[in-house]
Amino acid sequence: MINKGGNYYRALEEITSTLNKIKNEREGLQAVLKIITRALNGDAGIIMLLDSTREHLLRVATYGLTEWYLRKGMVSAQNACLSEVLSGKTVVVGNATENPHVKHPELARQAGIASILSAPLIYQEEVLGAVRVYTRSEREFHKKDCAFLETAAKISAMALGNAILRDTIKKETSMESSLEPDLTGRLSSLTSQIRKPSQFAHPSEEEFAKLLDFYRLEWIYEPRSFTLEKDGNRIVEMFTPDFYLPQLDLYVEITTMKQSLATEKNKKIRHLKELHPEINVKLLNKKDYASLLAKYGYGPLSEAKVRGIGKVLITVNRIQKRVMEMAREISIDYADRRPMLVGVLKGVVCFASDLMRNISIPVTMDFMAISYYTNDKSGPIRITKDLERSIKDRDIIIIEDIVDTGMTLHYLMNYLSSRQPASISVCTLLDKRVRRLVEVPLQYVGFEIPDYFVVGYGLDFRGEYRNLPFIATLQHEDKETRQLPPTVPPPPDAALLQV
Ligand code: IMP
Repeated sequence: MINKGGNYYRALEEITSTLNKIKNEREGLQAVLKIITRALNGDAGIIMLLDSTREHLLRVATYGLTEWYLRKGMVSAQNACLSEVLSGKTVVVGNATENPHVKHPELARQAGIASILSAPLIYQEEVLGAVRVYTRSEREFHKKDCAFLETAAKISAMALGNAILRDTIKKETSMESSLEPDLTGRLSSLTSQIRKPSQFAHPSEEEFAKLLDFYRLEWIYEPRSFTLEKDGNRIVEMFTPDFYLPQLDLYVEITTMKQSLATEKNKKIRHLKELHPEINVKLLNKKDYASLLAKYGYGPLSEAKVRGIGKVLITVNRIQKRVMEMAREISIDYADRRPMLVGVLKGVVCFASDLMRNISIPVTMDFMAISYYTNDKSGPIRITKDLERSIKDRDIIIIEDIVDTGMTLHYLMNYLSSRQPASISVCTLLDKRVRRLVEVPLQYVGFEIPDYFVVGYGLDFRGEYRNLPFIATLQHEDKETRQLPPTVPPPPDAALLQV
């Protein structure tokens, strides 16, 4: 019999006996969440656990949430309201559409959320995650409600922690593992197993969601519908973008349809922008999408056979001249500082070493490397080689070979900013501006290039061509696949010829 509200003593008794009985952690948390939500007279609830990086939260149990809410990807731990909960506090949001903690009140309204009560899951002084209860109509939460949720959260965290401990002891005694990972490390295996995928209309959307997850960009699938045309009170035309990325305040529409149909979609997006100029929306067409995937070795373009170098896009002389100019600019801008150059391996090696040799002020240099996107379960982006020294209070210049969608740089800038440098600027040799998805500030740009896949001067295609001293396109065997590396010389591009 499930507690129907108010009787907290009874609810706590039910929680302890449930956790005592159920061996499977997920089932246990699911049952406990139901008891908690109903005891608090809530309409819905969620339990989220931090991933192994402690930067994101993954859903482990949900109760009564609308389908809309389940269309969300991972949630950032930096999220204003959640970060307070993760610092160990219980947080009450009386009116979600007006509370400054709630970044997107429009979305809370859409999800039918009026009030929220959240408490941390703490085990042996370590925050493992959070439990939240939502109500549809506005509601006040009192001290005793908060105390109940805190206690229920503590009991759940204790059960979770003990289960993991039991598991580790079992493994250790069976000599399966002699290493003891930290608690969140052990929890990550649990969260990755029980993440619930959203329902996507098309496989391309699912792949795109995985890519966003990899770059740790929060997303909501089909977040809201916009009315494009009305006939009196009757809605004649609507438009529902595929994704909303809250951190970037950006809607993304993906179309893998033929060009003729994509034109229709383009028209709709133009119309949407006219009606809602405040909205930031981007369309990824079939070619954009294919190029995006090909970069990581997926999709039809990735199978394209390459014959060799197509056209030299930027000659050795032009590269050397421009690198010297950039080095001079940096030497002037940072004349009275001692900047630290941070190169992102491996594509940056040629550019970083030429640039550094031409900088005339004292600088230090370090390198970072990051993991690559694979669409299996290898987890989100990771730093595979970190900086060797602290960057606190240092002036950092990130050196990049090329900025394409901007997702890598966005992640890196967030990562480095959290280490409190005095400043961060970006110096990139190439800027493929037309393909930008995430806006990132670039202070020094060598060349803006059109949408061609390029190699040379450090840049590779399947690991090769890095040693070329110039930058070139590739030549394909199959002319149908020319979009990735074009088989024809690029058209004279004003931006390119000027720099
Ligand atoms: P972003 O995250 O989409 O901006 O991608 C940046 C990374 O993608 C770069 O550091 C490169 O490793 C890779 N990349 C993007 N475009 C090209 C290209 O045209 N040639 C080689 N690598 C590229």
